[in-house]
Amino acid sequence: MDLRIDAARLLSRLEELGRVGATGDGGCARLALTDEDRQGRDLVVTWMRDLGLDVQVDAIGNVVALLEGREPGPPVLCGSHVDTVATGGIYDGNLGVLSGLEVLETLTSAGVVPRRSMAVAFFTDEEGSRFAPDMLGSLVYAGGMTVEDAYDLVAIDGARLGDELARIGYLGSLPCPGLVPHAYVELHIEQGPVLDAHHEVIGAVTGVQGISWQEVRFEGQFNHAGTTPMDYRHDAGFAAASVAVAARALTRDLGGHQVATVGKLDLRPDLVNVVAGRSALTVDLRNTDGAVLVEAERAMAAEIERIASDEGVRVERRQLARFDPVQFDDRIVDLVEKTAREHGHSVRRLPSGAGHDAQMLARLCPSGMVFVPSVGGVSHNPAEFTDPVHVEAGANVLLHVLHRLAEEDIVP
Ligand code: GLV
Ligand code: MN
Ligand code: MN
Repeated sequence: MDLRIDAARLLSRLEELGRVGATGDGGCARLALTDEDRQGRDLVVTWMRDLGLDVQVDAIGNVVALLEGREPGPPVLCGSHVDTVATGGIYDGNLGVLSGLEVLETLTSAGVVPRRSMAVAFFTDEEGSRFAPDMLGSLVYAGGMTVEDAYDLVAIDGARLGDELARIGYLGSLPCPGLVPHAYVELHIEQGPVLDAHHEVIGAVTGVQGISWQEVRFEGQFNHAGTTPMDYRHDAGFAAASVAVAARALTRDLGGHQVATVGKLDLRPDLVNVVAGRSALTVDLRNTDGAVLVEAERAMAAEIERIASDEGVRVERRQLARFDPVQFDDRIVDLVEKTAREHGHSVRRLPSGAGHDAQMLARLCPSGMVFVPSVGGVSHNPAEFTDPVHVEAGANVLLHVLHRLAEEDIVP
């Protein structure tokens, strides 16, 4: 098959979707299940319907658009997410969904009816910024959490997930766990610096590193910033800052690929002349090596207890997300690499540093991912950028990988 996607159409859709929830600096903010997320979803659903696809919404708000194949049986699925972080760019997630749509449009415009059905999905709340955990919609799709438990999740702004899903009109009727696809492939920007630094065009993604998120709350004593001698203080702000410093030190001690982030920090009362009596922060730990990640969690927990005891503050910890490292299916990784090379692209095999819906689909069916470079490795930032030539290359690789999976018996 010698088909090519229409790069101009794909890029113009990326830009149009990027204008929904635009932040005025080139980026967009469509936190999961907000009005902006709904507008983004509605736009993509309109495009899916315009193409004549059968569009269905499931009980957690995942949207699947199906192109019927020549034979019955489970579809070859692709997709990603259209929610973003508050400092999102226009590519993260959106590229995978719109490329999937582009692949289906390319096939239908050429009159190609694939042997197996093909479908493109966008999954609810991949980012996890508003409702933890991340990859929530695909986790529920894969049966890793019940819809009832998911509905009861509470957002950082106090909203209940089930209520928000109904409010934006995406509480659908398809059951979860969902249909087991024949295979799943997701195109995504790398969001890290490796492909760009090595001037490589396609990443054949080998897996996703393990993720551990927790929330830590300290309770000390509000007190006067001028009159309270240092050894009288129970400073929840100091305890929180010490955790951030300890998290950085932990990455130095463990070395390798260990990363640690304190990305959210609240101090109360958050005033210049009051010792903070309460604080809440998040710790994000990730590692490709599951055993080292467990060691990082253990060391972090011990440090948090020591910090609380030294400062005389109470501490509570709550797990927000916990996913082991995932290996993608060798046959899909090989197929991505082979297809990219046949199209004349340089290819690198690499693990993903970010979480992705593909890691949840990997629980159900042979799964894999295609990466394209992120300029400067910048992501979760309005400046996130991928060269249009690389967008086109990635979407064409996706087209041919999916078409092969739909036609051939590569995955028995
Ligand atoms: C979510 O996609 C993450 O990697 O934080
Ligand atoms: Mn993403
Ligand atoms: Mn993201």
